[in-house]
Amino acid sequence: METVVSGIRSTGNLHLGNYFGALRNFIKMQKENNCFFFIADLHSLTTHPDPKHLHENVKNVLTDYLAAGIDPEESAIFIQSDVPEVSELYLLMNMHAYMGELAKTSSFKEKARKQPENINAGLLTYPVLMATDIIIHKANKVPVGKDQEQHLEMTRRFARRFNNFYGVDYFPEPTAYNFGSELIKIPGLDGTGKMGKSEGNCIYLMDDPKEIEKKVKKALTDQGPESMNSIKPDYIENLFTILKVVSTPDVVQFYEEKWNKCEIRYGDLKKQLASDIIAVTSPIRERILEIKKDDDYLRKVSRMGAEKARESASKTIKEVRDIMGFKSF
Ligand code: TRP
Repeated sequence: METVVSGIRSTGNLHLGNYFGALRNFIKMQKENNCFFFIADLHSLTTHPDPKHLHENVKNVLTDYLAAGIDPEESAIFIQSDVPEVSELYLLMNMHAYMGELAKTSSFKEKARKQPENINAGLLTYPVLMATDIIIHKANKVPVGKDQEQHLEMTRRFARRFNNFYGVDYFPEPTAYNFGSELIKIPGLDGTGKMGKSEGNCIYLMDDPKEIEKKVKKALTDQGPESMNSIKPDYIENLFTILKVVSTPDVVQFYEEKWNKCEIRYGDLKKQLASDIIAVTSPIRERILEIKKDDDYLRKVSRMGAEKARESASKTIKEVRDIMGFKSF
């Protein structure tokens, strides 16, 4: 059994891309591993969110994850800021992170470009906090997307550096959790690349059926193929990619044949696609609406998660303090 840590951004609701890209795998992963899932609200502070919205955002994300199938009995699901040990280890780890390496991290450079008026120290040390999230549970595996690979690489470096500096074999060097062929990238409905919040092309798990139908209807199409068995343009291929994950193989085959014979009617394809997306998201949406009303449940879950996380984190802090030479009188 491996220890897995995954941090979840606390901005925005979950969409279909999150669901098929990560969430569905998390649900499987939690059965086979010792999983820590947390909502990275401390990380979100780098962009100075309005305090009025901070809690609401955390609640939305926690609700979405629970509704989609993260089991609080099986995994620890918690809020990062509920575990003060994280902040302490972050401070300690900062003493072994260097300005030069932090300043040349891709995510830092990108953020610095995007928010030149707010290049704060938290932004610079973002990778240290992320490394802390992971090593505080002595995790071996971290499910990460492409955009987080460099952060994971830095986590390994920080863990190794700590071990070498203090002459211990303490922190494991975590590697990426490999979902193999199960990793599916969901494209957007606008013919561009992947589905993403900032791209504004998402279908959210929270969207009601009408909203989903509207969004699918607006997806980019064309006049249809001009010759038999032709290659699909990206924006059509995208629709088929989504169809493949939400529909049955016979449905996909039906539309493939229609495409190949130049008989495809995009109106029908879209109707089918919308109704099959709704079949996936509806039960999740219903649970979201239920959970959202149930503050007692959310309180219970987040307390239980924080308790599990603090148990493992405080053990690490105690040992790290000892390794670093802190002693009490
Ligand atoms: N940086 C991650 C992201 O933007 C979120 C994150 C924070 C994380 N801490 C983590 C992911 C620890 C994995 C492990 O998606």
